[in-house]
Amino acid sequence: MASAPTILISDSGLGGLTVHREVAAARADAKYIYVADDAFFPYSAHGEAALVERVVALMGTLIETHRPDLVVIACNTASTLVLPHLRAHFTVPFVGTVPAIKPACAASVTKRVSVLGTEATVAREYTRALIRDFANGTEVTLVGSARLAGYAEAEFNGAPAADAEIAAEIAPCFVDGDDRRTDTIVLACTHYPLLLARLEQLAPWPVAFQDPAPAIARRVVDLIGPPGHDRRLPAQFVFSSGNKPSPTLIAALARFGIGP
Ligand code: DGL
Repeated sequence: MASAPTILISDSGLGGLTVHREVAAARADAKYIYVADDAFFPYSAHGEAALVERVVALMGTLIETHRPDLVVIACNTASTLVLPHLRAHFTVPFVGTVPAIKPACAASVTKRVSVLGTEATVAREYTRALIRDFANGTEVTLVGSARLAGYAEAEFNGAPAADAEIAAEIAPCFVDGDDRRTDTIVLACTHYPLLLARLEQLAPWPVAFQDPAPAIARRVVDLIGPPGHDRRLPAQFVFSSGNKPSPTLIAALARFGIGP
């Protein structure tokens, strides 16, 4: 492995930036290419066969072009479905992003946890199996949101959704009864940590929001080792549509160490 590896990070949109931020902090010396598959956003709107076909084809092109040493699929909607197909097609190592159900259930004191993801992620057999295997007596409520990833994209592009719209999406996560309340919410879509401050402000009571990004960064370091030096290069940003980021987006990306 070269001392400064090339790491490709991909999502349907901007949500994977929350993963990029953690991975880049852990391996500051790596060369990063961030790919937002905006031409196929949102992934949750596509059927399973179409999504597998799309992500395998996109990765084929990206791997050919950028020759990464490692690929991070910074998307739960894709990872809970496509990872076995990617590993069957390509030899480069893939790190996926899947709902952090095991640590959330272990950490919950009230033993009431909610999993907030896209409608596709909460419907996946992969997610249901995580609950069967790791809930360990904890009551888990699955909440599929059709709109929150779009609200996160809009917020990043300088057009934030109203409080009431976000509050309505997260309301089913807060379960109260039998003298106990939900105390932990798994952010099972990489877009949602972009809205973390607003989620905390709009929560009807305080909860722990579980973001899987730090665990993904640890997994990347496990696979490719610690940094050789701490020189940081600006990451390259690519829209799959070929679109160029707007000035507002360029300014927001700079806060994530990306661009120009
Ligand atoms: N960022 C993606 C995820 O983690 C979801 C958004 C989409 O539906 O494309 O699930």
